[in-house]
Amino acid sequence: MRSHYCGQLDETLVDQTVTLCGWVHRRRDHGGVIFLDMRDRDGIAQVVVDPDTADAFATADRARSEFVLRISGRVRLRPEGTQNPKMPTGMVEVLAKEVEVLNTAATPPFQLDEHGKVGEDVRLKYRYIDLRRPEMIEKLRLRSRISHHVRAFLEGQGFLDIETPILTRATPEGARDYLVPSRTHPGSFFALPQSPQLFKQLLMVSGFDRYYQIAKCFRDEDLRADRQPEFTQIDIEASFVEEEDIMGIAESMIRGLFQDVLNVELPAFPRMTWAEAMHRYGSDKPDLRIPLTLVDVDDLMQQVDFKVFSGPASAADGRVAALKVAGGASMSRKVIDDYTKFVGIYGAKGLAWIKVNERAKGLEGLQSPIVKFMENVVEELLDRVGAQDGDIVFFGADKASVVNEALGALRVKLGEDLNLYTSDWAPLWVVDFPMFEADDKGALSPLHHPFTSPSCSPEELKADPAAALSRAYDMVLNGTELGGGSIRIHDQQMQSTVLEILGIGEEEAREKFGFLLDALHYGAPPHGGLAFGLDRLVMLMSGARTIREVIAFPKTQSASCPMTEAPGEVSLEQLRELNIRLRQKAKAEGQE
Ligand code: AMO
Ligand code: AMP
Repeated sequence: MRSHYCGQLDETLVDQTVTLCGWVHRRRDHGGVIFLDMRDRDGIAQVVVDPDTADAFATADRARSEFVLRISGRVRLRPEGTQNPKMPTGMVEVLAKEVEVLNTAATPPFQLDEHGKVGEDVRLKYRYIDLRRPEMIEKLRLRSRISHHVRAFLEGQGFLDIETPILTRATPEGARDYLVPSRTHPGSFFALPQSPQLFKQLLMVSGFDRYYQIAKCFRDEDLRADRQPEFTQIDIEASFVEEEDIMGIAESMIRGLFQDVLNVELPAFPRMTWAEAMHRYGSDKPDLRIPLTLVDVDDLMQQVDFKVFSGPASAADGRVAALKVAGGASMSRKVIDDYTKFVGIYGAKGLAWIKVNERAKGLEGLQSPIVKFMENVVEELLDRVGAQDGDIVFFGADKASVVNEALGALRVKLGEDLNLYTSDWAPLWVVDFPMFEADDKGALSPLHHPFTSPSCSPEELKADPAAALSRAYDMVLNGTELGGGSIRIHDQQMQSTVLEILGIGEEEAREKFGFLLDALHYGAPPHGGLAFGLDRLVMLMSGARTIREVIAFPKTQSASCPMTEAPGEVSLEQLRELNIRLRQKAKAEGQE
């Protein structure tokens, strides 16, 4: 129906006749001449309709915002003074000969250029209109380019694209499962995969050697800006590999992607142990664009007469850390109070601080609610953090986990608020993760997943599980975990040891992943892999603030879809077929 996309028009087409199909972005009446801005996925073109072409004029006259039109006419240069160099098509316009209404449109719930005036719920309810916005089209176009590049790269490296089931059994990645009831097996349920983890390992046992998939994953977990219940992984697995092989492939894929798509040369990817990341940045996904670091002051705080600090400083699981912000002494009381509230979200009971007004004046030159308790160590403290006149030093004292989370988050917030970024892109690998983490009651759970290989023998692992490290690695970019993976266990004895340490008895292990344990018996090669979050990758590359902005039809923060109104109720008949009786309904009907 069309000869060109609207966005393609430029001076090279002057005097040619073109046919455009698209939507009326804007319609203006200028003293007898009608201007239509026609929009399609490639851009916007200005169309002029003159009263001399009476039919076209009459049609254009009744066209309204978002009507679907087909327009033919001649491309001409815009008259001097009316050119718009900001628009890619701004040097030319189309003088319409024919205008045809392909469809009318009701008044849209919001003007595309006024989307900011409505809430995200309205944008999601009318997502098909929201997606007409050029910025949204741009993001999805970028997403398409990224997956295209990823596929081309991996195919080039000999990876095979193999699909794995969506209706399956629970795949443990630490979140709740989405369940699907089975009609043919009353009382039984499928689980949607949290990742293709087990299947990709089985493909290695089959000998496929190199697998990839751009795979949908489902996790029923608390949602955040970078988490959706349904998301997409670039999932990779290979056999006869070690950490270096997988990390090398993943790094060159990401490096090439940034070059190709954004024309950005990423800096080197430093390696950082998990312990160092937690210690210096209070996070296992440190944003290295921000130069602030956490400094340990436990030894000094053991000597002070302030229980809030000396307690955690002496406790085995406690930590007191300092965070110096250069030039921060000018922060107002209100700003400090706001930061105190902010760390409270992460469980911190307070946020002590010292303002360094003039070090040469000794204690006189400091301003602080706590310095009176620590006069004996304050000089050494300020030396250690390298405090100079005009700086502020914040302190966190609590369980190490609380201090890390609170000051880690404060570090990121200060970086953002004070624009402390020293570079645009800061990638890194975090390595040497602990194998397990303990909850409050001491129960162990895997830090990655239970198929990750430890760095030690089964005997050593059994002797001190809490101290064991794993062969896992995460790729982090600008404070976001882009991807993670590991070398897997391919030895049945090791797998059983890990499950045993996790308190998963033989019976339960057989019931849950007997098929994997069996497969490990039948010649499983050494293997490993990783998975990137595609949505997060596109979010970072497009500068979006949430992954919802780079998913065509995302869910809300409460895991629903305002457009389709999913999840929705189903008929009693469907429920009966599935052998399901709802407790609430049954109660209402007095059956329970
Ligand atoms: P993991 O659980 O670390 O590893 O997931 C891999 C990557 O997927 C992305 N991701 C998410 N993105 C959006 N919404 C979510 N809810 C969400 N959850 C995870 C992250 C993360 O880094 N099977 C292993 C991979 C492996 O070992 O090969 C796995 O799924 O970017
Ligand atoms: P208080 O003695 O409770 O008035 O606290 C004195 C200062 O220490 C205040 O600035 C508090 O914000 C701060 N503070 C209290 N508890 C903690 C903590 N656990 N970590 C860091 N600072 C704290």
